[in-house]
Amino acid sequence: MPNQLYIIENLAILIPMAHLDAKRWNRRYQKYGLTRLTHPPRQLLTDYLPQLPQHGLALDVAAGVGVNSLLLAQHGLQVIATDISTVALTLAQQQAQKHNLPLQLVQLDLAQATFPPHSFDLIINFYYLERSLFPIYRQALKPGGWLIMETFVKPEHATERPVHYLHPHELHHAFQSMQIVHSKLLTRLSRNEKEPIEQLVARKYAE
Ligand SMILES: C[S@@+](CC[C@H](N)C(=O)[O-])C[C@H]1O[C@@H](n2cnc3c(N)ncnc32)[C@H](O)[C@@H]1O
Repeated sequence: MPNQLYIIENLAILIPMAHLDAKRWNRRYQKYGLTRLTHPPRQLLTDYLPQLPQHGLALDVAAGVGVNSLLLAQHGLQVIATDISTVALTLAQQQAQKHNLPLQLVQLDLAQATFPPHSFDLIINFYYLERSLFPIYRQALKPGGWLIMETFVKPEHATERPVHYLHPHELHHAFQSMQIVHSKLLTRLSRNEKEPIEQLVARKYAE
């Protein structure tokens, strides 16, 4: 049965802690969470920020420690930050309190999530790939709503499970029923490794 979105105060707990992704990511964030807090928001989001609405509801999918969410909250949006890791969400909550910014935090297994239709002015999804969410995003956006996505494309000789990688131009094809504002395949350099990524900025047409 799919997860429903529940928000209880600042942090909603929905997932049994035995969930494997939750365990794995909690361990990572226990080790590197504080370092992640020092990372700037994603460049693509910063680039488009001046064009984004300053009121309304935004959803940050797989928000991690919430640096992107906090940028949107600072911009004026009401933000729901979702992730499976309670460690990451707790760090996000502490940052929100420190900067006196409102953030609604929801622990959710996004592999089984649904979101209500016509609800969000903006959905951001950075470096988390769950294809079952693609049609849900199209539905969950309000007319005129923005979708901003960026994640890895399968490198030519990748050995990892391809399910974590996009095919080249996959985002563009998946959201071609929306107005494509920006769509790009590029290579980013991380720890001296070249990593192919795809970026998409799209808007739902007004109905
Ligand atoms: C690479 S991080 C990306 C974090 C953030 N979006 C960013 O741009 O830095 C991937 C995130 O996906 C979350 N995640 C992994 N599996 C998940 C699941 N099944 N449901 C919800 N979140 C999940 C992890 O906890 C982690 O925070």
